[in-house]
Amino acid sequence: MQVFGLDIGGSGVKGAPVDIASGTLLAERFRIPTPQPAAPHALIATAAEVVRHFGWEGPVGCGFPAVLKAGVVKTAANIAPEWIGFDLGAGLREALGCPVTVLNDADAAGLAEMRWGAGRGVDGLVLMVTLGTGIGTALFVKGQLVPNTELGHIEIRGKDAELRASDRVREQKELSWKEFAKRVDEYLLTMERLFWPDLIIIGGGVSKYADKFIPRLSTSAQVVPAQMQNNAGIAGAALTAVPEAPVPAQPPVATEQ
Ligand code: BGC
Repeated sequence: MQVFGLDIGGSGVKGAPVDIASGTLLAERFRIPTPQPAAPHALIATAAEVVRHFGWEGPVGCGFPAVLKAGVVKTAANIAPEWIGFDLGAGLREALGCPVTVLNDADAAGLAEMRWGAGRGVDGLVLMVTLGTGIGTALFVKGQLVPNTELGHIEIRGKDAELRASDRVREQKELSWKEFAKRVDEYLLTMERLFWPDLIIIGGGVSKYADKFIPRLSTSAQVVPAQMQNNAGIAGAALTAVPEAPVPAQPPVATEQ
């Protein structure tokens, strides 16, 4: 079965058709920079452009960088404040004329990693952390997602954690890998003290440089990079449109960008 996976982010809107059995992208993903300001109608028009690029007319799963309850946006950390209270699911359905399922972007990436990637078969408590424009989190207990955790906004020494350790901060402050690792470590140690995960999966674009900072981390939980890298958000968003999709029998294949 094929579903279109859409990943709306603070800096880019990306999408591709996804094979739900394997989690592989069926075409090279297409990306358009997020319009600024990232207000509802502009962003929905951009999302529709990404879907139309492929001439797609089937079901669509969409990850979005905010808390979502029944399709309605509840928070706006890295998007325009007008999003709060906006029904993203209905807006996309109207713009696309297709069935659309929406969920938090980090939850989408986590679902993909649990099914096809680094968390596959891990039964305990798994924390997926996406380091990007913000910090997104997805928490899994025995493979079950606890949706809408916003642990990237936990305060560390009086400051929102994503303002200390996101990849955007690394770029803006031109942090060395050593300095970045120190900040990520402080964040993960805080997570560890509070949740005691068995496995931490690091996602987001920066996960492709995992060897530059993961070896410097000091958590007792194992920390691994996301195997699907930036495609996890797209594949996991597609997966949410068909929650009953079959679990693959073969080990997952890491997809390159
Ligand atoms: C948002 C989360 C989102 C994360 C990653 C945070 O600022 O509050 O909902 O998952 O960024 O995009």
